[in-house]
Amino acid sequence: MKTSIGAKTFVFPTPVFVVGAYDINGRPNIMTAAWGGICCSTPPCVAVSMRKATYTFDCIVRNKAFTVSLLSAEQAAVADYAGTVSGHSVDKFAGAGLTAQKSELVNAPIPAEFPVTLECELFKTVEIGLHTQFIGKIIDIKVLEEVLDERGRVNIDKLKPFAYDPESASYYATGAKFGKAFSIGASISKKNE
Ligand SMILES: Cc1cc2nc3c(=O)[nH]c(=O)nc-3n(C[C@H](O)[C@H](O)[C@H](O)COP(=O)(O)O)c2cc1C
Repeated sequence: MKTSIGAKTFVFPTPVFVVGAYDINGRPNIMTAAWGGICCSTPPCVAVSMRKATYTFDCIVRNKAFTVSLLSAEQAAVADYAGTVSGHSVDKFAGAGLTAQKSELVNAPIPAEFPVTLECELFKTVEIGLHTQFIGKIIDIKVLEEVLDERGRVNIDKLKPFAYDPESASYYATGAKFGKAFSIGASISKKNE
């Protein structure tokens, strides 16, 4: 029997996105966002939701651009730092010893040390409630070569990403691959033939 745990923000996994944007003075900033995900295939889009109180909020509204970086589990402390101090008072690039490279495609910074960075143009803004959702059109993705496989695809075993569990406020490493998508369900279809 199922029991009710109430209306709250729980799914698993949620991503640990690190969102980059320039402030009004052109200083790069990053913040962590777990409320987000891919939201369209064509055009390729990613959504991030943030509170108006974040420093990043105004940066995105002003520049109409942002980056979304994926980190490896060994960089979790940097993501946590970016999610617990604010660009209102701290230069997080300096604080975390990160290098900001300017994207040539959108007006947003690419943190050089992060393995995967999506370069996004602001496509739509959705006022939801406490959070505002920014939908970014993915213009390109910059990737450190060491996380690519021989065919130029991001390899999860090399990236070693991690996820966030909102219930326990904890980070979880990803496990090993155990099945092929669009394929393992075929055994059920077969049984029903
Ligand atoms: C794991 C984690 C996930 C977070 N997810 C979000 C989120 O999705 N949206 C949000 O507004 N704040 C989120 N935060 C909080 C912001 O990252 C935090 O308020 C940060 O200091 C904002 O930075 P800024 O003021 O420099 O923009 C998260 C924090 C952590 C640690």
